[in-house]
Amino acid sequence: MSTRVAKRFEGKTAIITGSARGMGKQLALDMVAEGAKVSISDIVPDILQEAKREIEKEGGECLATVCDIAHSKQVEDMVNKTVETFGTVHILVNNAGLLTPATIEETTNDLIDRTININLKGVLYGIRAVTPIMKKNRYGRIVNVASIVGKRGDNSTTFAYGASKGGVITLTRSTARALGPFGITCNCIAPHAVLTNLMRHWDEKKKREVAELIPLKRLGTVEDMSYLMMFLASDESSFITGETININGGYYMD
Ligand SMILES: NC(=O)c1ccc[n+]([C@@H]2O[C@H](COP(=O)([O-])OP(=O)(O)OC[C@H]3O[C@@H](n4cnc5c(N)ncnc54)[C@H](O)[C@@H]3O)[C@@H](O)[C@H]2O)c1
Repeated sequence: MSTRVAKRFEGKTAIITGSARGMGKQLALDMVAEGAKVSISDIVPDILQEAKREIEKEGGECLATVCDIAHSKQVEDMVNKTVETFGTVHILVNNAGLLTPATIEETTNDLIDRTININLKGVLYGIRAVTPIMKKNRYGRIVNVASIVGKRGDNSTTFAYGASKGGVITLTRSTARALGPFGITCNCIAPHAVLTNLMRHWDEKKKREVAELIPLKRLGTVEDMSYLMMFLASDESSFITGETININGGYYMD
């Protein structure tokens, strides 16, 4: 008989950063459908409120907080507000990220700082803020969102971005080692070519060219990402930690 249960997140509270749109919002919708209470946050207030309404329409319990993860105090406040509202935190998904294409010559100090502050330091702020809570619970699931370019680098326009995502992969491993003894897992996904606002600089020709290079001959969807993140956030993945899983239609394998 199958042990699979329909609702993997009953009784669980999940924080998902950068969840006003894209794969973070899809994940929030999918997790509430499986019983989670979700704490969503983003830097864009109007679409954040829209996402909250959408989640509540599906019957989900949702806290929405404007939070710029580049600021540690805002991250700590958002985590504390989640605990005040829902009692504790079981799952943290560090999803928020920024991609500003630039060649090496165009990569200004400001772009380097912004990219590292959000994509790398923001992830560490989140992990640090939930650690005492998860340690006390002796339970936690942390899922980070890196990128294919964090593994293989890139030869086009994502230098600061690739470096920040490479840092997230290392941070995932260190967190997994440090927090494993407390029943906390930390894993990472490395997506490529998912049609979201982040890829708004791709025109139709570019999308076709990118899809053509992918063995599965299509771009990724937010649902593809959500299903993997849910697996890593669930108890089905309880013996996996420190991993960064490629999700790219076979474009890059390691
Ligand atoms: N789309 C892809 O092909 C792709 C590929 C590899 C990795 N990723 C990663 O996936 C994650 C989600 O991106 P997406 O594709 O859903 O893009 P998206 O732009 O739809 O969603 C990202 C969200 O993060 C928010 N955000 C940006 N800076 C923030 C900050 N400082 N604090 C809080 N929120 C902030 C944005 O407002 C946005 O709502 C990102 O970390 C991105 O780097 C995406």
